[in-house]
Amino acid sequence: MNILVTGAAGYIGSICSEVLLSRGHQVIALDNLQEGHRAAVPPAATFCQTDLAIRSQIEAVFSSHKFDAVMHFAGEALVAKSVREPSTFYAANVGCGVNLLDAMVRHGVNKFIFSSTAATYGEPEVVPIPEDHRKAPINPYGKSKLTFEQILGDYRAYTGLKYVTLRYFNAAGASVERGEAHREETHLIPRVLDTALGAIAQLDIFGFDYPTPDGSCVRDYIHVIDIADSHLRALEEIERVPGEAFNVGNSRGFSNLEVVKTAERITGRKIPHKLSPRRPGDPAVLVASNEKLKRALGWEAKHSSLEEILQSAWDWRRKFPKGYPE
Ligand code: UFG
Repeated sequence: MNILVTGAAGYIGSICSEVLLSRGHQVIALDNLQEGHRAAVPPAATFCQTDLAIRSQIEAVFSSHKFDAVMHFAGEALVAKSVREPSTFYAANVGCGVNLLDAMVRHGVNKFIFSSTAATYGEPEVVPIPEDHRKAPINPYGKSKLTFEQILGDYRAYTGLKYVTLRYFNAAGASVERGEAHREETHLIPRVLDTALGAIAQLDIFGFDYPTPDGSCVRDYIHVIDIADSHLRALEEIERVPGEAFNVGNSRGFSNLEVVKTAERITGRKIPHKLSPRRPGDPAVLVASNEKLKRALGWEAKHSSLEEILQSAWDWRRKFPKGYPE
């Protein structure tokens, strides 16, 4: 298939592009390169530097290519930034998404896979979290993604859009060539590894008084290659499950302190850290129920252990200690 991948120079978009190409699909890779890295885009993809905020630029892409489906990874994704700058999140995650959907409608493209998030649930009432759990996001990031999920429902009703929403839990790990390299790195695993490498002198562990076994937050880490796989499954089954949302996680939670300990084992290095105040916008525990994804899409995680996830991230980090060349 001919697939338009937005955010294809970003962490998850670039690795999904790599996996799509390896399965014989053609990828038109779109990115504005604000956060993404040109070098992360697989060479076999056709790259378009396009800003989804500018409708004429999107129109140019749709006028010059034919697409069978769109995978929409582009967006703002940092919880802490969303608390500081909500308008950036509504513009990027809602406004730009609507621009993209309108281009799809104009050009008769009606298959869409949306990258959503565990942050749409807020503080869970039940763990592991099922997809029909109450949605009460506690930060603008989660609110912006939930709003777009609801907008997708309207497009389905009024335009016949067929879409699948994938709610990722904590994406982590790397392929051999591509990994996590944000310009402003706030994510736990890359910061843990940077501390192991000595680039960060002492890691802050945000929050030590959460209602969890060791007081630090608990997250469900999911290998980025398994996320890519969920996209392929969703695309293959979209006619059967249009309009459905699926959690993409391992159904196992690890505390921030457990991640540090496991990373010390994997890297063989000490990771100096200190307990610091909570970071605004962080729920205590986010762990997915992945039953629906397994049952309805036949998905199975192939890299589910935290050790394997950390090992792949560490291998990539050591191979590319400065991230991607600019
Ligand atoms: N953390 C630290 N120290 C750091 C960095 C992070 O203690 O230096 C903590 C955070 O406070 C949090 C945990 O590590 O408790 C995980 O934080 P991340 O920033 O790695 O990830 P988040 O859980 O905040 O968010 C990520 C993605 C979102 C996605 C969410 C779903 O950024 O896009 O996972 O769980 F929605």
